[in-house]
Amino acid sequence: MDENSLAFNRVFSCNRVFLCFFYSFVGLKKITVVVMCLAMGTIITIAGQRGRNGRSVTAVNLSASLALLEKKTLLVDCDPQACSTRMAGVDLSLMTCDLSSVLVGKVSLQEAVLKTQLRFMDVIPSSLSLFHAATRLSRNVGNERILRIFLRELRDEYDYIIIDPPASYSFLTVMAMAAADWLVLPFHCTPEAIGDLRLLLQMVNHVKDNFQQHLKIAGVFFTQCCSRGEIDHFLEEKDLKGVEKIVYNSFVPQDNAVEIAAQRGKPVALHDIESPGAEAYLDVANELISFFN
Ligand SMILES: Nc1ncnc2c1ncn2[C@@H]1O[C@H](COP(=O)(O)OP(=O)(O)OP(=O)(O)O)[C@@H](O)[C@H]1O
Ligand SMILES: [Mg+2]
Repeated sequence: MDENSLAFNRVFSCNRVFLCFFYSFVGLKKITVVVMCLAMGTIITIAGQRGRNGRSVTAVNLSASLALLEKKTLLVDCDPQACSTRMAGVDLSLMTCDLSSVLVGKVSLQEAVLKTQLRFMDVIPSSLSLFHAATRLSRNVGNERILRIFLRELRDEYDYIIIDPPASYSFLTVMAMAAADWLVLPFHCTPEAIGDLRLLLQMVNHVKDNFQQHLKIAGVFFTQCCSRGEIDHFLEEKDLKGVEKIVYNSFVPQDNAVEIAAQRGKPVALHDIESPGAEAYLDVANELISFFN
């Protein structure tokens, strides 16, 4: 894990305001550049190699929690299975196009945006058509950058853009990572998670070398586990000293409310705001916001 660049970026983000003042002595042109950087939304992909790892549930509930904390958030569903589209609480009857229509140039990104029940949360939905669009796009080397290019259109309008990718290695996963500045990793207390992490880090290096050299990890948080003690024991037992430093204090427990909310097509906070899952995702969102402040 690239701890040096992580530490550098923490320091850098703390000092952005200071830098703004500094540049005001240097020249107006540079101020404009810094202010533009400050206004741009942070793009985060919820990464993970294994299927059924909680990526979509996290993408939806983290987006909803950020929105409840009044951070304007766009959830981008980058998986043809469209799980996060179904879980985000959007009125699917209003869906006339999706991410695939944007990627093949039929509509603008703005036209694909759907409102949710939360004032600060919007969604770019997905459908099976994304699979066909990806098959076509993957024929040309370099097309993996396409989502990052399209997101420029809306980046200034949001505080956070959260991308939900499919599992394993595919054109869409690389595209989702290449579009992001940061990755957040949901992690499980299982032996398989270690192997998955290794594969994921290889993939991150591939994306950094070929498409997005600034890609960094904004945090790892445990999900579907029982207690902080279980997490600490796991980290110690598996000797994950490097990872420990970027593990969030908050973790998401196994919670029926999360499962039921997902089945009913809404974020858990809109199903039961007092459930352990809803509270945990709000805590994770708060830690994420603190990381970037
Ligand atoms: N904290 C939780 N408590 C209970 N169930 C959960 C929790 N988090 C995730 N789940 C359940 O785990 C299953 C997998 O979650 P999810 O669809 O988010 O995984 P995924 O990594 O996106 O899977 P895929 O590989 O299909 O994209 C779902 O049935 C979901 O409801
Ligand atoms: Mg998913």
